[in-house]
Amino acid sequence: MNYPGNAGELKDYPKEIILKDGTGVTIRTVREGDKKGLLEMFKHFPESELWFLDHDLSDPGYIHDWVMNLELKREISIIALLEGRIIANTVLRMKNFGAESHIGRLKFSVVPSFRDKGLGTWMLLDIINLAISRGLQMLVIHLEQDREPSIINWIKKFNFHEEAVLENYLSDREGNFHNLVVMTKRLYLEWDDIY
Ligand SMILES: CC(C)(COP(=O)(O)OP(=O)(O)OC[C@H]1O[C@@H](n2cnc3c(N)ncnc32)[C@H](O)[C@@H]1OP(=O)(O)O)[C@@H](O)C(=O)NCCC(=O)NCCS
Repeated sequence: MNYPGNAGELKDYPKEIILKDGTGVTIRTVREGDKKGLLEMFKHFPESELWFLDHDLSDPGYIHDWVMNLELKREISIIALLEGRIIANTVLRMKNFGAESHIGRLKFSVVPSFRDKGLGTWMLLDIINLAISRGLQMLVIHLEQDREPSIINWIKKFNFHEEAVLENYLSDREGNFHNLVVMTKRLYLEWDDIY
C-alpha cells in the first residue's frame, strides 16, 4: 500500500537490526499483505496477554479492519520480521485533533519465544524516535501493575515514569480486578534527549 504523506520520518524503513544472539531482523511498516502474518503472530501469545492488549487480535475481522484502515495521521504500525515471519509489532496511536493531539499512546509486543533478545528495546527506541519526528510531546503506555512489574521497571529505563495508578480499573478474563499503571514520557526535539 502506498500511504500518502508518509515520506518524511518513515523513509528509513525497511531497516535491519541485530538481536543480542546475532539474529538479523527486518523492521518495517505494516502493509496490506501482512494480515495473515499478524494473525499468525498473535496465535503464539497466551490468552491472558492477548486480553490485556485491548483488541481481539485472534479475530481475522479485527486484523483485516486494522490493516485496511491504517491512517498515518492517527496510527503508525511497525513490525519486525525474521525470514518472512512477523515476530513483533509496535503501534503508535495519535489523535489529530483536540487537547490530546500532542500525545501518542504506545503498544508493543514480541512473540514469547523471541523475548529477552533485545527486540523489545529496539522496537521501543524506534517508535520513540518516530514520535519525536512526528512532533509529539508526550508518550503514554498503559500496563497492568501485578502482571508486568519487570516490564514496568524496564520501561522506566527509557525515562517513562508512573504518572498514575487507577486501582482495580482492569478486569482479567475471570472477572478479577487489577490496577492500571499509566506511564508517561515527555519528549524533546533531539534524539540525544531520549535518555
Ligand atoms: C514487553 C516486551 C515487548 C519486551 O520484549 P523483549 O523483546 O523481551 O524486550 P528486550 O529483550 O529488549 O528485554 C526487555 C526487558 O525485559 C526483560 N525480559 C525479557 N523477557 C523476560 C522474561 N521472560 N521474564 C522476565 N524479564 C524479561 C529483559 O531482561 C529486559 O530487561 P533488562 O533491560 O532490564 O535486561 C515483551 O515482554 C512482550 O511482548 N510482553 C507482552 C506484551 C506487553 O506487555 N507489552 C507492553 C505493554 S503494551
